[in-house]
Amino acid sequence: MAIKRLEELAAGMTLASDLKAGDGRLLFKAGTELQDRHIELIGRVGVESVDVEDAPDTLDEEQLRAVEEYVREFFQYVDPDFEPTIEMFLIALNGVARRVAAGWVLPDVSERRAVNVEHLEDIFLAGMGTPETIVQHESELASFPDIYFRIREVLADESASADTIAKVVSTDMSLSAKLIKLVNSPLYGFPQTIDSISRAVTLVGGKELSTLALGISAINYFKDIPPELVDMESFWRHSITCGIFAKILAGTQRGLAPERFFTAGLLHDVGRLILFKKLPYASTEAMLYARENSIPLVEAEREVMEFCHTDISKPLLESWKFPESLSNMINYHHNPMEFPNPLEPAIIHVADSLTNAVEIARGSMYAMPQLDPDAWEILGIAPRPALEQAVADYEEQIDVILSAFI
Ligand SMILES: [Fe+2]
Ligand SMILES: [Fe+2]
Repeated sequence: MAIKRLEELAAGMTLASDLKAGDGRLLFKAGTELQDRHIELIGRVGVESVDVEDAPDTLDEEQLRAVEEYVREFFQYVDPDFEPTIEMFLIALNGVARRVAAGWVLPDVSERRAVNVEHLEDIFLAGMGTPETIVQHESELASFPDIYFRIREVLADESASADTIAKVVSTDMSLSAKLIKLVNSPLYGFPQTIDSISRAVTLVGGKELSTLALGISAINYFKDIPPELVDMESFWRHSITCGIFAKILAGTQRGLAPERFFTAGLLHDVGRLILFKKLPYASTEAMLYARENSIPLVEAEREVMEFCHTDISKPLLESWKFPESLSNMINYHHNPMEFPNPLEPAIIHVADSLTNAVEIARGSMYAMPQLDPDAWEILGIAPRPALEQAVADYEEQIDVILSAFI
């Protein structure tokens, strides 16, 4: 750790601790890699000194070997000769090497079984509930936010005016605040500041903004999942990262409106949230099983529970009357080729893989899921430089977008 004065800060330095403004407001979290815009903001809010990690060293051969061995662990389950997988391996390797050079100590494998699950009780015992009964139980208990259904109605009404959309969305203050933050983030990249929902509707489009609002109001429903059960911050980071990648990848395709893909990415693992709520013991067991056996989480779910989170999201999204085009992307993100029109779920599938790859450098404990070669093929993009470019764009966006949600 080193304390640096504002004028000594440079892009590429990493925050060693959370950075707060004078009034105690969190500006950036520990681990944030400073970019020029961060430094500018730090100067603007009047913070004078910042705690950063020591200047990165170059890695010696032994460290490089350790990094490579560490990253290889995560790729045991996937085809090592598939070109996009090799590219993702290099992305993970590069990310981990950068963090190790900045002082990150590679997690010990024995830490992987650190969560004590014995005190958790399932409402359903593993093997006793089917996805349908679990979800049915959920809808019975649900006090699903009213705003969700109002947005759903507006979205279904082709003739809803921009004004009506803005009015409905504006009735929920916290939702509006999140939307305003998002439309001002690099996710949209508008040059001017957007300060009202009606302006956002005009610029982003009524359908796009309502879709985003619908996704956000749906995830708000899961705010109360106990933190001891699952690291919700990692869960949301995973979801938001997948949303960003999905939008970036959709942008490489002709004729797709990329906005919807952020929402689909945001909710792609929503079935897992129901599992955390309804089968806390079994879903935690699945997580531990995945870590211990270096297999992807989705495979561990199938082994432990005999179904996986997309089996849950199917009846769940149906009961929510979630727009079908989004549900299909979510429900088929692990097996896109089983959907008759696979391009859209294939984008989420690839985005999810890439998310898993970048998360290795953030201390993720889960093996890379299988990347379906046919799904990759339909995207028709070259792994290099497309994936590397997607990661560079994502790094520019993630902190601001994350701050809209946390
Ligand atoms: Fe998933
Ligand atoms: Fe995922």
